[in-house]
Amino acid sequence: SEPLKVALLGCGTVGGAVLRLLSEQAEDLAARVGRRIEVAGVAVRRPDRHPDVPADLLTTDAMVLVTRPDVDLVVEVIGGIEPARSLLLAAMAAGKSVVSANKTLLADDGVALHAAAAEGGVDLYYEAAVAGAIPLLRPLRESLAGDQLRRVVGIVNGTTNYILSRMAETGAGFGEALAEATELGYAEADPTADVDGFDAAAKAAILASLAFHSPVTAADVYREGISAVSATDVARAAEIGCTVKLLAICERVAGSNGADDAVAVRVHPAMIPTTHPLAAVGGAFNAVFVEAEAAGELMFYGRGAGGEPTASAVLGDLVAVARNRINGVAGPGTTGYAGLTVRPMADT
Ligand code: HSE
Repeated sequence: SEPLKVALLGCGTVGGAVLRLLSEQAEDLAARVGRRIEVAGVAVRRPDRHPDVPADLLTTDAMVLVTRPDVDLVVEVIGGIEPARSLLLAAMAAGKSVVSANKTLLADDGVALHAAAAEGGVDLYYEAAVAGAIPLLRPLRESLAGDQLRRVVGIVNGTTNYILSRMAETGAGFGEALAEATELGYAEADPTADVDGFDAAAKAAILASLAFHSPVTAADVYREGISAVSATDVARAAEIGCTVKLLAICERVAGSNGADDAVAVRVHPAMIPTTHPLAAVGGAFNAVFVEAEAAGELMFYGRGAGGEPTASAVLGDLVAVARNRINGVAGPGTTGYAGLTVRPMADT
């Protein structure tokens, strides 16, 4: 049978790992999917920077690639709002299923993207957008879809968790721990998105949207980063049996004055008892603790960043959308959100 053709948008750390694993595991993936998955093209800004990619696959015209008639599936690992947004909307309008790792885009414009997927009768999967390798979004969308969630509390930013963990271990101040994280390559050259909580807020919005079947955007999330956390704060927390973590907290809150329950989402440093499972999450790891009515407490733990861990989540999604394509179905959407209202940030 004909192979399924995939367009890869972006070829940085994650894209490169996706490309390599697609090739190394081609036989196994073909067996699991039922058809081969073939790379139709790789869109990059600077082809000269990708000597490892076969030259006939490279293109700078991503829009032409995603709308090509022979392309079945699109994998987007560019990040950011534009041009990713226009490319994914065009791809879905052209009947292509999409796998994205783009937390910024999904947290900003998830409603429009899901609407485009529903309209096009195609898949939109984005497991890699939150907590890298950890299977989390599909468990929320699928496995827990029959339950009522009370709260989702996560450590979803590895850089800040590394910094806070080092502060606790060594007594270092924030600046010193950040410098170490930068040197070791955990923190980016511009660590603002991590340190000030923007990265965690985008992930929190996505988690809350799926957990509470409600359209939460990054702008709805109360956000406070870790730059004001001092060595003294961390030491005092330890004295009372607590540890400081940057938490993304998504919870169902009772409506006031007889109003319906709402969902409230916030990101801020918090003291948690050292006996809580999240307190044991050290280094650059991520973990998400879920409290559900029927399931009780669940914990998801693993690597939240890095090329291979993130590529694992991308490939898992790719297998899922490929199978759906072959079966002529589209996976779980969020059409007709019938969840809670979103409590405005000012009221949180
Ligand atoms: N900067 C992110 C982190 C990478 O530190 O967790 C994954 O989104």
